[in-house]
Amino acid sequence: MTFWREHLALTARALFALVAVIALGVADVEHVSASWGFVGAGEPAPVPESWLRETTQTARRQLRGAGTEDNSRRLAIVYLVTDLQRVDRDRPSLLRASITLNKQNLFPTTPCSVYIFTWKQQIQLLTEGLADVGRWSNVAVLPLANESWVAPAMAGSSDMWHEHHTMDYRLMGDWRLGFMPEFVRKMGHRYLLQFDDDSFILKPVGLNLVQLFDNKGYLLAAKKIRPDPLIVTWGLPELVRYYLTTHKVVPTQLFEFCEPNNIHGVYSTLDAESLGAIPAADLTALQELGLKQRGGWNRTILHGNCVMYSLDWWFSPKVHRFVQLCRATGGSFTYRWNEQGVIAMLWQIFLKPEQFYPFEFDYKHRLTKAQDAYDMAAAPSVVEEH
Ligand SMILES: *[C@@H]1O[C@H](CO)[C@@H](O)[C@H](O)[C@H]1NC(C)=O
Ligand SMILES: *[C@@H]1O[C@H](CO)[C@@H](O)[C@H](O)[C@H]1NC(C)=O
Repeated sequence: MTFWREHLALTARALFALVAVIALGVADVEHVSASWGFVGAGEPAPVPESWLRETTQTARRQLRGAGTEDNSRRLAIVYLVTDLQRVDRDRPSLLRASITLNKQNLFPTTPCSVYIFTWKQQIQLLTEGLADVGRWSNVAVLPLANESWVAPAMAGSSDMWHEHHTMDYRLMGDWRLGFMPEFVRKMGHRYLLQFDDDSFILKPVGLNLVQLFDNKGYLLAAKKIRPDPLIVTWGLPELVRYYLTTHKVVPTQLFEFCEPNNIHGVYSTLDAESLGAIPAADLTALQELGLKQRGGWNRTILHGNCVMYSLDWWFSPKVHRFVQLCRATGGSFTYRWNEQGVIAMLWQIFLKPEQFYPFEFDYKHRLTKAQDAYDMAAAPSVVEEH
């Protein structure tokens, strides 16, 4: 009896070890797809490696003028335009103005490649609107693949989403955290400038931004620093606290943005007035939890319409893990932390003040008429947006 029991136990152990080895192998494969986000039912999204290959090939074909081998010295500028047919503004002509002003003010000192992503069905419309600009040798218009446009599983259905932001707006945030940096790295760039179609550089930058970053050791730059509303950062400080605790990371600057100025200040302040329209029962629950109504993280973020960063830094293990953690919780989607809340935390957790560069060029965001951008760029003096 004893013999058989031991024999069985041994067999079971061997079997367990075998299963563990197989599971590890599978986990390794899943790790790749997990970094892309999850599909609705909780399975990892299919790895869009083939599609990434297809998109990079399409991009290389279009960028005839620039050999991608020296992309490491070129800045990648990425635009994402999903909502082309808006009644209140002509997006293709705004985008055309944005790129035209880049040509005037940025390209003379910083070699750049421009990547514009839109739906396949909209490419023709966009190309027509861009006219000559779409044919420039450093501009590529690329199809947005559906695989890169999937809500994280933990974001559930729309009844879990807070505030009015559209699905596309939230997906943009996840796309910028997930697909975009992967694509740009695959194209051989080391730096990425994230831009909106209504982001305008009004006066000459006068610097090679890639060389500037290399020489000064900058890892991140932005034009606008502002506090975000409470509702769109809800839960982010709590996740940061989990991350710092589990990864044993002492943040470089975060505590200065918190009250008190230490780990006990890393929380979301329960300010009922600023929480937006949440059900009364939810508010009661939050109050019963005894959440603090003062202090906490002061919600300073970097606006996503003009942000540049180093890809080597982005893909460094701790930074990358933090990004994936934010995506995986669904919080970046349901609360619309989007990329700007997440990038703000990367800045405050990982960067020393001297590794951040506040852009100094004249800049305007969110004009509704392209002509206004040309006029402001041509005007002798510019009132800076604060
Ligand atoms: C991709 O998504 C678009 C927009 O939702 C849809 O019209 C199209 O049919 C999808 N394509 C595929 C291949 O699933
Ligand atoms: C948040 O903290 C930072 C760093 O101390 C400070 O510069 C900024 O003014 C604060 N913002 C607000 C809205 O309190």
